[in-house]
Amino acid sequence: MLLDGKHPESVEQAARALAGGRLVAIPTETVYGLAARADQDAAVAQIFAAKGRPADHPLIVHVLDETGARRFAQDLPPVALRLMAAFWPGPLTLIVKRAPGVAGAAAGGQATVGLRSPSHPLARALMQRCRELGVEGLAAPSANRFGRVSPTRADHVQGEFGPAMLVLDGGDCPVGIESSIVDCSRGAPVLLRPGVLTPSELEAAAGEPLRAPDARAPKASGTLAAHYAPSAVVRLLATEPLKRQLSETRPAGLAVYSRTVYEGLPLWRAMPDSARATARQLFAVLRELDAAGAREIWIEAPPEGAEWDGVRDRLSRAAAAFAPRQD
Ligand code: TXA
Ligand code: MG
Repeated sequence: MLLDGKHPESVEQAARALAGGRLVAIPTETVYGLAARADQDAAVAQIFAAKGRPADHPLIVHVLDETGARRFAQDLPPVALRLMAAFWPGPLTLIVKRAPGVAGAAAGGQATVGLRSPSHPLARALMQRCRELGVEGLAAPSANRFGRVSPTRADHVQGEFGPAMLVLDGGDCPVGIESSIVDCSRGAPVLLRPGVLTPSELEAAAGEPLRAPDARAPKASGTLAAHYAPSAVVRLLATEPLKRQLSETRPAGLAVYSRTVYEGLPLWRAMPDSARATARQLFAVLRELDAAGAREIWIEAPPEGAEWDGVRDRLSRAAAAFAPRQD
């Protein structure tokens, strides 16, 4: 059921449902999340069931502010506090040591917990009301079935879970790809998942270099090689190879998403020149081309530059999944 975010009663209804242990899909500035109160393992268990996600994959706990974060963290190391001061509320998740006995199911049983304070006004109004009802944290993964493209609109969420799911409709998500994740739980900060924040922005605020994940780094499900997959086969091609391939063959059901203009193609979508604008529309474009019946989506590889890291990461995972349609 869609709850129109423009009406204050919708926030009230969503907050009460969450406080009562039910699932509600909520808008954030990055993507929609499938939320449950983080302090009730039974509520959180419904998230794993609905998503078809393995129960040992940890979820992000969404909080209003540092006070909320302290409820779930054993301690907040100085580097985490510096990153929070710079980017919260916003598209940054911090992994820190978890307070003992708190949000065990949400953390997938790990000794750490992922914390994020979203900036979306509707998410914040909802969390404020939840706080008044005694709920400090909302565990929420992206509101899609395991391995699928994250939803950036309320109707995407309904497409994933059907009409019975409560969805607080906050319109289009302005960032469009999931938050950057920095692990602050093991000394030097590690960038586990790139988002729209660039490594240099993060490092400037952290006051120290960010490491790349090594073999000891936790395996986030959003970082599995084959993830974010539409049903169509996705191929990522550099500008010239794409041009060459298109001059040689145009298979049936071909869609193209590129900065280069290919006017003659019925399923061509223009990729914006800016990384932020591309992130905003990326998942909606993949879903739209899928829904239009595309069998293959050929995508022009993003340009060089760290501001494209988040988009490049999602596109290479979608291409790695390479799952042909079965119909
Ligand atoms: O933008 C976002 O981050 C969105 C919105 C809804 O906030 N959420 C999101 O959640 O993308 P999800 O569950 O789809 O991805 C969260 C990632 C997963 O890859 C998970 O493994 C990782 O965060 N993660 C969460 N807690 C962790 C922990 N304690 N240690 C390591 N990784 C963790
Ligand atoms: Mg996800």
